[in-house]
Amino acid sequence: MDIKRDLEIVKPDKTLYTIYKYDKLDSTNTFLKQHCSALPDYTVIWADEQTDGRGRFTRIWNSQPGLDLTFSLLLPLTSLEQKLRQNITQIAALSVAQMLEGYGLKPSVKWPNDVLVQGKKISGILCEVAESKERVCGVLGIGLNANNTEEFLANLDLPATSLHYELRHKVVRQDLLKKLLEIIINRFDVLCQTGFTQNRQEIRKKLAFINEQIVFTDVKQDSYSGKIIDLNDDGTLLFECEKRGIISLNSGEIAFHNSYTMRKFL
Ligand code: BTN
Repeated sequence: MDIKRDLEIVKPDKTLYTIYKYDKLDSTNTFLKQHCSALPDYTVIWADEQTDGRGRFTRIWNSQPGLDLTFSLLLPLTSLEQKLRQNITQIAALSVAQMLEGYGLKPSVKWPNDVLVQGKKISGILCEVAESKERVCGVLGIGLNANNTEEFLANLDLPATSLHYELRHKVVRQDLLKKLLEIIINRFDVLCQTGFTQNRQEIRKKLAFINEQIVFTDVKQDSYSGKIIDLNDDGTLLFECEKRGIISLNSGEIAFHNSYTMRKFL
């Protein structure tokens, strides 16, 4: 496996951790899951090209070699309460949103794991758990459309955008990555130390489609129409379902909103 170069990043406790950059991998999440037992916490695997990038619900994550940012971060789960694991994806989405605000954009978080700009997807997050004999780790994978072409974005399954498209200039992916890692690691630290409350309040302010009519699909692909009312304290979604009344949703996804529709609904 060719490693192009290693970069170093300073953690909040002032120690260094390493970013391994590869020319080509099947998937940074798959690679990190396979090698987690041999790597220290906070290791980052960045690939210029993924040949089998994965999204949630066995979807494919399409990307353009050298143009977008696809990486995975190894998170220690030992100091995180089990019930807070489900919130990692959300704090990652919030971190991406915060990083994008630094570029003057106004992102929103589409519960639980997508980041939108101008109502179009700019980033997706896939958090998985990797267990070896020695330990249990979180593998947090992020795909961010950085310098993607308009043609590529127009051919995706969802309305999508990129930093290049929104800002009208190219961005340096290494800068994005460093800024983003700093934010994520700090927010993860807050999650471990104090729980979800602080992050929850910030996500709540950026939540897409709140009080709007949506269609939600659960993991069994059953669909429900209704309105998002709020983000609960534990990060589940409070939903006013037309058929079932007020319910909390803890998995699945928002599949339809009149400005944001998966092609399968068209
Ligand atoms: C989604 O939108 O469903 C989540 C997409 C996550 C994509 C990232 S790219 C880096 C990491 N490696 C993968 O194979 N997937 C994640």
